[in-house]
Amino acid sequence: MEAEARAAEVYDSLDGQVGPILFGGHMHWGYWDAAHADASFAAAAERLAQMMIEKAEIGPGKKFIDLGCGFGRSGMLLAKEKGCDLNGITISKVQQLEASRLAQADGLQDKVRFVHGSALELPFEDRSYGGGWFFESIFHMGHERALREASRVLKPGALLLLTDLPLLDHTSEQFKEYSRERFKCNYVTKEAWPALLHDAGMELVEMTDITENVMPWIVPKLKEAFEVHRREVRAIDADAGEVFIARWIKLFQYMSENLGYIMLTARKSAAGAHASA
Ligand SMILES: C[S@@+](CC[C@H](N)C(=O)[O-])C[C@H]1O[C@@H](n2cnc3c(N)ncnc32)[C@H](O)[C@@H]1O
Repeated sequence: MEAEARAAEVYDSLDGQVGPILFGGHMHWGYWDAAHADASFAAAAERLAQMMIEKAEIGPGKKFIDLGCGFGRSGMLLAKEKGCDLNGITISKVQQLEASRLAQADGLQDKVRFVHGSALELPFEDRSYGGGWFFESIFHMGHERALREASRVLKPGALLLLTDLPLLDHTSEQFKEYSRERFKCNYVTKEAWPALLHDAGMELVEMTDITENVMPWIVPKLKEAFEVHRREVRAIDADAGEVFIARWIKLFQYMSENLGYIMLTARKSAAGAHASA
């Protein structure tokens, strides 16, 4: 599928390798507030991961699925803190290899496994996971299909956590078209979520709008991160000079002007009727 091919291309590219240098091993954005205004991009990304981990109802002997797992850092933190088993899936071969290497280096090879593939066609059995998340990944996949497939592999009653970048009242048509054309990404409004979840056999438990804790911060913090990590970035891409950095900043600016940021918790219905239909 076009969107899967494009996501693989983006994350396997040099740009995809710069992300974890800037964001402390994560590939998601961060959470800032006045009390933590000095936090680096990496520290704020780690904080957001901790906020998600706190919400996860999972423990030893249970299986958790990380849908669009990046380099696996958030999932590995979860597995360590909660004692659960973790499977992560990413469309990027580069990410899967590196995440697997990191898990091995951390002695997590018996608890954590990363596979290369699509979250839209999970190589896992129905009702086999006690929990899961899409951590800043679902807009690459198409919300309806990704939710239906996640619901299929979750056990009835299991929690699904996610972060997403909702459309805003003032999101421009030009931005939507750019996202679709260039990255094959599709965004939805906050209001769309209850019906999306219902159609996938899930129900909304909680949605928190953290736009103000994410979006106004990402451009200044990205600039700082490029300053701090300039040499490491250059080491993987000698051409990563001013033009390269300016392109990243422009993209982050465009996204922060046109999208919000939410954290969401849903529960697969006890019957799971829609998902298994
Ligand atoms: C913004 S990154 C977030 C990575 C990770 N969840 C994190 O928080 O660090 C988006 C992730 O979605 C993955 N992705 C995009 N489309 C996918 C698909 N169809 N199936 C599996 N993974 C996908 C990418 O490979 C990437 O790992």
